[in-house]
Amino acid sequence: MKFFIDTANLDDIKEAKDLGILDGVTTNPSLMAKEGITGTAKINKHYAKICEIVEGDVSAEVISTDYKGIVAEGKKLAKIAPNIVVKVPMIRDGVKAIRYFTDNGIKTNCTLVFSAGQAILAAKAGATYLSPFIGRVDDTNWDGIQLIETIADIFEIQQFETEILAASIRNSKAIVESALAGADIVTCPLKSILGLLNHPLTDIGLAKFLADYEKGNKK
Ligand code: G3P
Repeated sequence: MKFFIDTANLDDIKEAKDLGILDGVTTNPSLMAKEGITGTAKINKHYAKICEIVEGDVSAEVISTDYKGIVAEGKKLAKIAPNIVVKVPMIRDGVKAIRYFTDNGIKTNCTLVFSAGQAILAAKAGATYLSPFIGRVDDTNWDGIQLIETIADIFEIQQFETEILAASIRNSKAIVESALAGADIVTCPLKSILGLLNHPLTDIGLAKFLADYEKGNKK
């Protein structure tokens, strides 16, 4: 399973990279706004900075919602760096645009996916990645992890090559559950990644090892 970080914060991206586990980055307009990055020119510059830090795929989201606009915007984004993946919303013109990008060798991430039917359409259009938003599914009292499991089963039966990128992850438990449910990638905030480190028995055990070492050295 691959790890992507879901942020536009350069420090968090660097920290995840330093941990040695980072395979890529996903962003969206909300995450850009959170960092105070606004306007196309600044946003595109910021993508370039992210792509300098990370070798893996970096998802850059289009703002257009019509086919021509999505294609024009996506082509510009793809020129920023070779590891840019064009992030396209799961809408009718988005699916058409994904097909265009697929046929023209541009990688895509189909975002805002909330159902298995949407997943099938994106896979048929040749999306490189598919982003089911598991946290937001849970918010509506449905089961986000169950959605990942269903999509993973369908993709295996149908031999779809689109990779399942579990998104909208808000805690470490969801990372583990996504791995078990068959996600190819998880994209999550740094906090959720770092949360995987935590276990009280690790802390207790380490404290004991270090105390015993000190005791032994004093003899
Ligand atoms: O990867 C999508 C993510 O950024 C959305 O997360 O927590 O706003 O649902 P959230």
